[in-house]
Amino acid sequence: MATGENQRVGNEVTDLAPGWDNPEISELPIEGFRYTSVDFYEKEWNEMWTKVWLLLGRVSEMPSKGDYQVEEVGVESIIMVRQDDDSIRAFYNVCQHRGSRLTNNTQGHAEVFRCPYHSWEWSFDGTLLSVQDPEDFPRGNPCEELTLVELPCEVFAGFVWVNLDPDCKPLKEYLGPLWDEWLAYEIDDWSRVLKISTQVPCNWKVIQDNFCESYHLPTVHPQLADSHEENYAYTQFDMSDEGHNRMIMMGATLSRSMRGENPDLPVSLAERMKHWDLDPKDFDQRVYDVRLALQRKMRELGPSRGHTHYSNLRDSQLTDSHHYNLFPNCSLTFSADGVLLQRMRPDPLDPQSCLFDHWYYTKNTELADSATNIELTDTEGLHETVKYGEQSMGLIPDQDIAISVMQQLGLRSSGFKGGFLSSQESRIRRFHDVIDSYIK
Ligand code: FES
Ligand SMILES: [Fe+2]
Repeated sequence: MATGENQRVGNEVTDLAPGWDNPEISELPIEGFRYTSVDFYEKEWNEMWTKVWLLLGRVSEMPSKGDYQVEEVGVESIIMVRQDDDSIRAFYNVCQHRGSRLTNNTQGHAEVFRCPYHSWEWSFDGTLLSVQDPEDFPRGNPCEELTLVELPCEVFAGFVWVNLDPDCKPLKEYLGPLWDEWLAYEIDDWSRVLKISTQVPCNWKVIQDNFCESYHLPTVHPQLADSHEENYAYTQFDMSDEGHNRMIMMGATLSRSMRGENPDLPVSLAERMKHWDLDPKDFDQRVYDVRLALQRKMRELGPSRGHTHYSNLRDSQLTDSHHYNLFPNCSLTFSADGVLLQRMRPDPLDPQSCLFDHWYYTKNTELADSATNIELTDTEGLHETVKYGEQSMGLIPDQDIAISVMQQLGLRSSGFKGGFLSSQESRIRRFHDVIDSYIK
């Protein structure tokens, strides 16, 4: 089967970045039961979800001590809360009296968490401050016996990461090559300008599979041919030993195979050029020269315009989409000034359903908009849960999710025999290999 060498299909054309480990992948079929079976879902939960680092919160959204965020993953609910010493700690959202959730809020500020059932009061550092009738407990005053159950929690890239495994390895080791690449963007102070969530009738892996390949772009997102070179031969694919994937797709260009040798300059690219003091007229008949010219201008002017992190970035990172599959359940697409974060969480009641989050972080909305095709202009500041099928999340996520729902319907059929992948879809097989390495 394919080795790391021939999975990096684009490299004979252009080296966009130093490659990763690209471990061997299996040739196993990817059968439908992986997306439908309750047994498989339970194995995934017990042996994989409870052993991995999960991207859950955002530090900047908890600025003061006592500020908290609550995130659900499968059957669990986790409180992340800012401490007196400014650190963030994570606790199960579970009262140790008789198991009630402490809060149904998704975020807020609390001097104490007061359990709604019998009013036990928990400090945000996990200590139990007061209970009703403390003298009536045969095993002693609960305040001297109990604390909230704490979870391993780390902060990186401005995100709060939590692991349900008390014996987990450090986050840096888990992230492998993602650590240094994401550090370079200096995203700690980027803020969330788009936050949409929805429940989707498909298994969580269907969406991550989709985000593990760009083979669907010409069919599902034909509009991206006006901003990216979609041809796999020009695209770099990498897989890491830790289970994460990367795809680097050239941006600030057009898809030659879709748009021909001498296309008109799209308006969005012309706007981006003007922003960087390039005259679109100088590139008449030379659309395919724009990308490198833009890189030079961004390099030259970026730092004086406040883009200090450009000095950390490779030329390719200035113009090209750097797309990462963070194992197991996130997909992050970086442009030089923004990142689209999409996250899939399992539905604890149904393997054929999941929660989908579509978030965008940036320091500079105007620039990120033209570089990424994210429709921020209409949705800036939108924070909502939408009903799948009734409200739009934006054109591109609507396209991806619609096709994922179609696929789920086919995956549950006995007529599906396990797939037939191209090399450019190897990251899907790798994703399932990594899941299997946890659940064996
Ligand atoms: S369950 Fe929380 S106080 Fe009783
Ligand atoms: Fe897509």
